[in-house]
Amino acid sequence: MTEKKAVIILFGGSGDLAKRKLYPALFQLFVRGDLQEHFAVIGTARRPWSDEYYQEIVTAAVTNLPQATTKQVKAFASHFYYQSHDVTDSAHYVTLKTLAEKLDKQYDIGGNRIYYMAMAPEFFGVIAGHIKSENLLTPDGFNRLVIEKPFGHDHASAKELNDSISATFDENQIYRIDHYLGKEMVQGILALRFGNQILEPLWSKDYIDNIQITLAEAVGVEERAGYYESSGALRDMVQNHIMQLMAYLTMEKPDTFSPEVVHKVKDALFSSLHRYTPEEAAQNFIRAQYVSADVNGQTVNGYRQEDGVAEDSMTETFVAGKLLLDTPRWEGTPIYLRTGKRLTRKSTQVTVTFKPVANNIFATDGEPAAPNRLTIYVEPTQGYRLEINGKTLGQTFALSQESLDFRHDDASVAKAPEAYERLLLDVLRGDQTNFTRWAELDQSWQYVDVIRQAWDATKAMPTYAAGTMGPQASMDLLTDSGRDWAFKP
Ligand code: BG6
Repeated sequence: MTEKKAVIILFGGSGDLAKRKLYPALFQLFVRGDLQEHFAVIGTARRPWSDEYYQEIVTAAVTNLPQATTKQVKAFASHFYYQSHDVTDSAHYVTLKTLAEKLDKQYDIGGNRIYYMAMAPEFFGVIAGHIKSENLLTPDGFNRLVIEKPFGHDHASAKELNDSISATFDENQIYRIDHYLGKEMVQGILALRFGNQILEPLWSKDYIDNIQITLAEAVGVEERAGYYESSGALRDMVQNHIMQLMAYLTMEKPDTFSPEVVHKVKDALFSSLHRYTPEEAAQNFIRAQYVSADVNGQTVNGYRQEDGVAEDSMTETFVAGKLLLDTPRWEGTPIYLRTGKRLTRKSTQVTVTFKPVANNIFATDGEPAAPNRLTIYVEPTQGYRLEINGKTLGQTFALSQESLDFRHDDASVAKAPEAYERLLLDVLRGDQTNFTRWAELDQSWQYVDVIRQAWDATKAMPTYAAGTMGPQASMDLLTDSGRDWAFKP
């Protein structure tokens, strides 16, 4: 394994994301040998911490990981340095540059820099501007920017943000994280589609009746009302995660599995999103908010009773919608999506329902054969299920539905890299395949802005009881055309 070399400058070093995700992910890379001797992390935040204190924070974040030994944790934490930093103060960038150059020499890194923005998005542009004006970019080695969501609030703010970071970084230096693209089973969609002769020829409107994407969460808003109140499920889950899953499920086959070619077909897919008028958007996308209910013997709060949520909040915690694509492959095929907080249980899954056999020669009463269905279980279990029709045992030719089921076992899942670990290694390697590009965001923001606009024009906020799968309207979205949600927990 080749060791990767970089000075990683982390804006938001004291934050929750860094502690929960980034330090553990970097530690796993260290344990696996992707990071060894030639790396250093500079954590920055406003607080006046010392290097020693910062190293304690990093140690605490990784010490309970299954692979952690005291020796390894100590060696890992010794690569971490801290700088108290005001993101608007030019002088602080000069100090940061000096520290990065010193560490670059000390660890013999060769000028590779990763700038990781894990903090409030209003500062992304300011930081990128200072990286340029205070000359932090190195002439030798690579300079890569990693940027977390939310990438904007609507199309206009996303564009403004993109313009501001693009003034310093080229598109091929920008790694916009969507952590769903780091998930094993999301990446597995590409393997499933393009690694199987039996699927790809059938993967179109001619054979597929509809596709369903469900990202259900059992948790409520937790402690994140400050962020969620101004986001809501549409911006939090649909514009990014669901759109990305949808693209992997429907894009054309890339000629080669290289970042440029994958992004080319993805860009084309996003350009083919069927744009609704606001009236059509209001018919095809519904929102709702959870209200208090008894869940497993306990009364849980409704969204408006959660800490930090306004009593008259109009923030949606649930979205269901029907999306269409204007491509020859998918013309007219509905892609149903839904996501919400406080649903029945946590489950991320995709169901592809094929059209039924046109002429069921085994039916005595004209009944069509049950449609074949392919389910991709993304989380918490990971695997696939294919429902096919077989002959019932006995002296008739009645069909019965059988399932071919595969799940990765828990032990293998636990050993596989976590999303952030995978994505951070991609950044170190310079592989942009599983990151989002501006062309996609440009389209997806325009798409969801219309839905937002349609909702904002009405005063009504439908509700659903906590612990259920959402409001009746989300069921009607399918039953109106004789369909049904495949996932019914
Ligand atoms: C985040 C959202 O992007 O994804 C959260 O901000 C959500 O609201 C989370 O809970 C879900 O991610 P996962 O990986 O737990 O499915």
